[in-house]
Amino acid sequence: MTYSRIAGIGSYLPEKVLTNKGMEAIVETSDEWIRERTGINKRHIAGEGERTSDLGEAAARRAVEHAGLSLDDVDLIIVATATPDLTFPATATIIQHKLGVKNGFAFDVHAVCSGFLYALATADTFIRTGQAKCALVIGAETFSRILDWTDRTTCVLFGDGAGAMVLTAEDGEPEEYKGVLKTHLRSDGEYCDLLYVDGGPSATKTVGHLRMQGNQVFRHAVTKISDAMTTLCAQTGVDIADIDWVVPHQANQRILLGVAKKLGISVEQVISTVAEHGNTSAASIPLAFDAAVKDGRIKRGDTVLMEALGGGFTWGAALVRY
Ligand code: ACO
Repeated sequence: MTYSRIAGIGSYLPEKVLTNKGMEAIVETSDEWIRERTGINKRHIAGEGERTSDLGEAAARRAVEHAGLSLDDVDLIIVATATPDLTFPATATIIQHKLGVKNGFAFDVHAVCSGFLYALATADTFIRTGQAKCALVIGAETFSRILDWTDRTTCVLFGDGAGAMVLTAEDGEPEEYKGVLKTHLRSDGEYCDLLYVDGGPSATKTVGHLRMQGNQVFRHAVTKISDAMTTLCAQTGVDIADIDWVVPHQANQRILLGVAKKLGISVEQVISTVAEHGNTSAASIPLAFDAAVKDGRIKRGDTVLMEALGGGFTWGAALVRY
């Protein structure tokens, strides 16, 4: 049976760092409040003229190099982003051009903070059905561009960055898979007013700013994420106790720990980069995954569960054997 092997992973963070202390100069907040409520210490901010496609391109090049492959091998590029360079064309085709890829096809998916899981599930389906052989799955965001920098309840939470994963088509029996085992995606538009951007080409003709009822989002996050994780484990017959690592969407340290506690997962098994990166939306999972691969925590053969909830609401989980 054909499955998607995780051949390589890479990430990129803009050079500019904004610390919580630096944030104190922008809005009425404190390092102590931000750390206590969110676990965030600092975030990276894209430079002037640095676009989502630049971040995504850099992460993609690192992932392809890590996989030991050539850009000529790539025949599918999916970019998960809520902060595209332009309304159209898709950031994926812009990245395709920057990478000099001429094969296959490229498109964006838009599921905000769950975007990487949606992109992964989509790429996995194309590979399993024989429509692609080497997919670049990219999460890339410049949330700094859609923040209201006068709103302390949201602007302290987010950062910019990109992560990328290379999936290749392999044949093998399910017990031998070194890649995507299964994904589980959900959404419910009833909650679209709790987390949204108040602008867009069809509604207001302005780009708009992120608006969020943080405490309401928080309330839904732990329950919905835990539910997606347990559903996925039940569907695959994998016991939560057999999971080596959880790579969550990095929204807030308290959400990460809340989910771990609810499912009886040890805190040491939860990969957290929220302190260094803040919430980078669709980029946060591949950024965290890459950090844990590069520092030697996630090793080949480990079972890894990824999870996220984002605007929409969209949410879900993905189970892989790295
Ligand atoms: N600095 C100082 N004080 C602040 C700040 C700040 N940056 N922000 C809010 N406050 C104040 C509020 O004004 C309020 O003051 P008041 O009591 O005098 O009215 C007080 O702090 C408490 O505010 P709450 O909103 O109740 O604080 P809470 O404990 O809920 O924490 C937070 C807020 C961190 C946003 C939390 O609700 C959260 O993390 N929610 C989840 C958000 C999330 O994960 N979003 C991403 C989802 S994914 C995506 O798609 C983008």
